[in-house]
Amino acid sequence: MSEPTGDRVLVTGALGQIGTELVEALRAKHGDAAVIASDIRTVEGHPCVSKGPFAILDVTDTASVSRLCRDEGVTTIYHLAALLSATGEKNPELCRSVNVGGTVAVLKAAKACGCRVFVPSSIAVFGPDAPKHAPQDTPLNPTTVYGETKVEGEALGLEYWTLHGVDVRGLRYPGLVSYKAPAGGGTTDYAVEIFHAAVGSKHYRCFVRPDTKLPMMYMDDAIRATLMVMEAPATSLGSSRTGYNIDGFSFTAEELAAAIAQEVEGFSCDYVPDVRQTYADSWPDSVDGSIAKKEWGWSPAYDLHAMTRAMLNGLSD
Ligand code: NAD
Ligand code: SER
Repeated sequence: MSEPTGDRVLVTGALGQIGTELVEALRAKHGDAAVIASDIRTVEGHPCVSKGPFAILDVTDTASVSRLCRDEGVTTIYHLAALLSATGEKNPELCRSVNVGGTVAVLKAAKACGCRVFVPSSIAVFGPDAPKHAPQDTPLNPTTVYGETKVEGEALGLEYWTLHGVDVRGLRYPGLVSYKAPAGGGTTDYAVEIFHAAVGSKHYRCFVRPDTKLPMMYMDDAIRATLMVMEAPATSLGSSRTGYNIDGFSFTAEELAAAIAQEVEGFSCDYVPDVRQTYADSWPDSVDGSIAKKEWGWSPAYDLHAMTRAMLNGLSD
């Protein structure tokens, strides 16, 4: 059991793919009682609900976000509630409302209550005109609504930092691969679903072409990066503070299937691309994480084969 750190933490969108593991890590660090998990829905038996404080919170309800922060004495907010790319493109209005409106509500509450804030960004900020190995600084012209909301989120965070002194930090997560919670409606979900298929039917029908290559990361690295950027001294963070590129590794869908086939005898994959191919094609193959490395020491631990073994072991337990 950890010693309480004195921080009082709120996590929005806590029942999703990232929140499921981030809440566990934050409770290990700050103590169970100090981390309030919240979401617009609840899930019976979910560890975020059963192992510590949990609140139903719709992030588009500005008054409720501020009230909860004030009443609970929240000092740090990890703002994960959002619609991901595939779900967001099906409902652009809701995507803007949750992703941008929710972020504004959280930033307003943080300003009023003096909270620090983590707001995730994404590789979806890049558009087809960005270099395929995406640098930290390049024009951001996404062609998805989801990507537009992430560019807006980075800008809002910088605005609240420069104009109001709110300590906002963020990472451009690559596609995240994990087994503790299902992927939440994104384009990179194939890299998660394929493992569930591998330990089940041993066949996966992939919704992107075999040559589709994207920046990816194993969840353990993503959680570690999140804690690292939030622990970094404010003086070490420059103008990328609300949207650091963080590098993991890159693979094509075909390379992922081959890595799994090396471990799972008889595994096969076929490819039937759908509209998510268009979103994937608009994103880079890899990202340059050198600014994150220089400013707060980022370095990934997992590669394709380590991730493949960790996923298969995790799903087999
Ligand atoms: P997810 O879809 O798995 O979880 C999001 C959670 O938000 C869900 O539990 C959902 O119920 C909740 N939610 C939706 N609308 C809400 C609302 N109005 N109020 C409160 N909660 C609401 O998403 P995730 O993968 O955990 O992603 C979290 C964040 O990280 C998002 O900002 C996402 O854009 C970003 N991100 C994720 C990935 C990835 O691969 N998972 C990659 C890049 C960026
Ligand atoms: N993994 C996310 C998605 O595919 C990218 O932010 O939507």
